[in-house]
Formats: sequence, structure tokens, C-alpha cells
Amino acid sequence: IGRNVHFEETVDSTQNIAQKLALEGAVEGTLVVAEEQIGGRGRLERKWQSPKYKGIWMSLILKPAIPIMKTPQLTLLIAVAVVQGIQDVTGVQADIKWPNDLLVNGKKLTGILTEMQADSDRVHSLIIGIGINVNQQLEDFEEELQSSATSIYLETKTSWDRAIIIQGIMKQIEKLYLLYLEKGFYPIKLLWESYSISLGQKVRANTLNGSIFGLAKGITDDGVLLLEDDQGEVHSIYSADILMET
Ligand code: BTN
Repeated sequence: IGRNVHFEETVDSTQNIAQKLALEGAVEGTLVVAEEQIGGRGRLERKWQSPKYKGIWMSLILKPAIPIMKTPQLTLLIAVAVVQGIQDVTGVQADIKWPNDLLVNGKKLTGILTEMQADSDRVHSLIIGIGINVNQQLEDFEEELQSSATSIYLETKTSWDRAIIIQGIMKQIEKLYLLYLEKGFYPIKLLWESYSISLGQKVRANTLNGSIFGLAKGITDDGVLLLEDDQGEVHSIYSADILMET
């Protein structure tokens, strides 16, 4: 994983480059890293600010032999690996907010976006985009993000070599991916739960079909979030924005 690396200076989105490489038959574990993204994208059609030299903007190609419905498992795996990699290298401990936002004291440090190429119901390639705020100072964030985002620099008051953090993350991804291929999702799920701040909390899930408030009970083996509302009805959440009401 991460041995075949494409470095780019400025790109629209590393996701687009990785998509193209995957269609051209790139090997599993191919990684695209850019210094800057002009059209970085986030989940739910949002933009992702990717200022030059400040962060890690990368996309990884995986080709697991799994059906489409299991792809959320890989996103959760990557979230765990990124938490561990960042912690190993920088000491910063992030929490995971379902499905895969990494937060430090409630502020967003990392976002993960999974896109997929599939033939009928089998996955052909997963393109997993990882954006990590590394060396931003407060004023490097656009104003509307300054109260909700953080960086490794802001958490440690130290500038970091991004290549070393990438290596640390790739090492963890490789380890967990091999574990996943050998033992399945269960050990990953346990790790994910241990880093999660969503479980056991009352949260609001804003989905495309409306908003549900309830207790985050757990995740299923497919990575779906289970929310129990005040009437005791359990809802399966596949995609949503989660607001933690503390
Ligand atoms: C989110 O939290 O909404 C996900 C953000 C994902 C951002 C990364 S940066 C590298 C890759 N290229 C993109 O355009 N997006 C992802």
C-alpha cells in the first residue's frame, strides 16, 4: 500500500486523478498525493479547502473483492488507520465521528471521502480520498471554518513533515487491510468503536430524507449507523450529517 505514488503539484482533485488511473488499470495500493487542490471535494457535495503545502491531500486506490454494500467497511477501516497513523507520528489523538470525520476537541482535523468504480454488484476499485489539515495556522482557514476546523500544527504548535505522516498512515492502512482480508470486519469494527465519539450519544442525523434525532446505538457489520429515536424505533442511517448535541 502506498508504494506506487504519483506526486502532483496542483490538481483539481486527487480523486479525479486516481479515478483515471484506476480505469487505466492502476495496481492496488496506488496513491495520488497533491500539494494543492483547486477543486477539492468533500462528502455531500461540499468543497474541501486544500491550500498549497499546508495539508495532506491524497487518494488511495484499493481493489478489495467485496460486494458494493460492504464498501462502508473500508471507509471505517481507513478512518481507524488514519487516527492511528496520526497518533503514532505526531501524538495527536483524534476521535472518529460517524462515519469518518476525525475530530480533535470537536474540531475537524481530517475528512475521508470514498468513491467507487463497480461492475454490477462487485467493486472494481475504491478511491479513498483523505484530507488532513497539517500545517495550517488559524488564519490559513477561511473564516467560516476557523471555529470548526483544526490542524496538527494548531494542536501541537509544531510544523510537521507531511511525508512522514503519510508513511505512518500507509503503514497502518496496510496492517489493518491485511487484518481485514484475513479476519473480516469484526476486529476493525471493535477498533472503530473504541475511537468513536458518536456511540452512546444523542445525535441528530440530517439525511437527504429528513432529520432524525436519537441515541447512536451502534454500527452494523456493514458500517451502517443505528439510531434509536424517543419512541424506541431503530433507524438505519446510511448517509447523513451527524450533529452531536452536547
Ligand atoms: C469530507 O469530510 O467531506 C471529506 C473530505 C475529503 C477530502 C479529500 S482531500 C483528497 C481527496 N481529494 C478530494 O477532492 N477530496 C479528498
